[in-house]
Amino acid sequence: MFTTAQVRRIAAVAVAGAMAISLAACSGGSGSGSTDSAGSGSGDGELTTVGFVAVGPEGGWRTANEQNIQDSFSKENGFDLKYAPATNGDQNSQITAFTSFIDEGVDAIILSATEATGWDSVLKRAQEAEIPVVLLDRGIEPNDPSLYTSHIAPDNVGISASAAEWANAQFPSGAKYVVLEGPPGLSVVNDRNKGWDSTIDANFTKLESQSANWSTEDAKSVFETILKANNNDVQLVFAQNDEMGLGAALAVEEAGLKPGTDVKIITIDGTKAALEALAAGRLSFVAEYNPLFGDTAIGVVKDALDGKTVESDIVVPSVTFDSPAAATEALPTRKY
Ligand code: AHR
Repeated sequence: MFTTAQVRRIAAVAVAGAMAISLAACSGGSGSGSTDSAGSGSGDGELTTVGFVAVGPEGGWRTANEQNIQDSFSKENGFDLKYAPATNGDQNSQITAFTSFIDEGVDAIILSATEATGWDSVLKRAQEAEIPVVLLDRGIEPNDPSLYTSHIAPDNVGISASAAEWANAQFPSGAKYVVLEGPPGLSVVNDRNKGWDSTIDANFTKLESQSANWSTEDAKSVFETILKANNNDVQLVFAQNDEMGLGAALAVEEAGLKPGTDVKIITIDGTKAALEALAAGRLSFVAEYNPLFGDTAIGVVKDALDGKTVESDIVVPSVTFDSPAAATEALPTRKY
């Protein structure tokens, strides 16, 4: 029994094949008419159309991730990727784009959500239209795997737990610390808090946990205020992305203190700017949140369109950097 989506694609391939045969008959050559799987780009002339409901400009990590997705879902690889970044991070613009892709009858939709909630109705509409939806990076809350085909991301809980393990080793007698979070409610923020809180030793004291909106400027301002309010008696910052960690380092220096010595700063993402700061001793620990999973996403979309079973949660491997030497060694071969 074929699904609607499969019937649509078979019809498209049949038309393309018929056109190829008639063209071949005219020109005397052999029609390609290949019916290879989705995204093969192997001569059947039929590109797999994918709607990318994206976040858009947000920082170094996002730029690397969205460029990698666009590079992977190329016409050479058999895809027609329709990129739809959010307007100023607004979820409504994403829902509008998502709905348009359904109405357009794209073959698949990939989504990096600006918010964790509010997706149920459009996800159900995509299901009714039998259009597979793959979540990239950001999950949905509450998480209901029946509403999407697959979620692809590094393990936020495990990554932040590894950061807390490093902190436990650095401060065996504990420390006073501050958490600089991403925007509240995001699945990645919730998971990074979960991994950290479940691993940090009981002799640590959380002074503050505030959002600095993934932003260096906001993080500098927020942490300057916290340092003043605590008479600079803060030994550790857990910044949930690189940009906020770099902002915290600026605040430490503004206070006449030395980042890496007076205040150790942990960040997540692993962008070049963060590794350069780690190599220089301004950051103390950088956990990669690997953004380069476009090839994985292609495979998931192809398998979904070919009716194969797809894992609902795919973890992208990531590494950590815990010293200037580790950062210096890695920098020449880093891809983002
Ligand atoms: O969802 C991933 C987070 O979003 C990254 O850690 C951050 O840099 C980006 O803005």
